[in-house]
Amino acid sequence: MKAAIYPGSFDPITNGHVDIIRRASRIFDRIYIGVAQNPMKKYLFSGPERQDMIRRVFKGNKKIVVESFGGLLSDYVEYKKVPVVIRGLRVVTDFDYELSLALMNKNLNKELETVFFMTDEKLLFISSSLIKEVAKFGGNIREYVPALVGKELNKKFKLTNNK
Ligand code: COA
Repeated sequence: MKAAIYPGSFDPITNGHVDIIRRASRIFDRIYIGVAQNPMKKYLFSGPERQDMIRRVFKGNKKIVVESFGGLLSDYVEYKKVPVVIRGLRVVTDFDYELSLALMNKNLNKELETVFFMTDEKLLFISSSLIKEVAKFGGNIREYVPALVGKELNKKFKLTNNK
């Protein structure tokens, strides 16, 4: 079975991520979505919330397995015995960061290969932070996130605003 790991913060999952996962699942038989839990990072959604949204987006799709991981990605890869990591590339500025990430991971685990998918041109400019900002100020994010994620964002910001 050909498997791969797609790691990320997914705070929250966007249509950019969904597009990469859908395309990758035509190539791989199983995709482990590794939801990163980094204590140094401040997330809007908790780890379980981020995982739950992804599970709901891919409900019924047996190829997609959602998990969380902490610590090094290379250790998670080794633990899973799945040495293929998927990453998406959007703009040229992504490249520098992704190249360092891929090379460092390769140094940490020689077996590990990083496979890059070009992001859909219609979604090139989106990021989770940008979507959170637009949602927070009541902008329309419908085209950029799955409907259930839009609802969760609205709930989150209403709660925050009510405080
Ligand atoms: N379409 C739209 N947006 C996309 C996208 C796509 N296809 N792919 C990524 N993005 C956005 C995300 O929404 C996110 O936006 P944000 O910065 O505004 O939140 C941004 O691009 C980066 O997202 P992500 O892919 O989740 O990367 P990350 O930097 O949050 O996480 C990890 C990267 C988790 C893989 C990395 O930090 C890691 O491996 N951590 C574990 C610790 C470790 O091993 N460190 C050493 C690494 S060598």
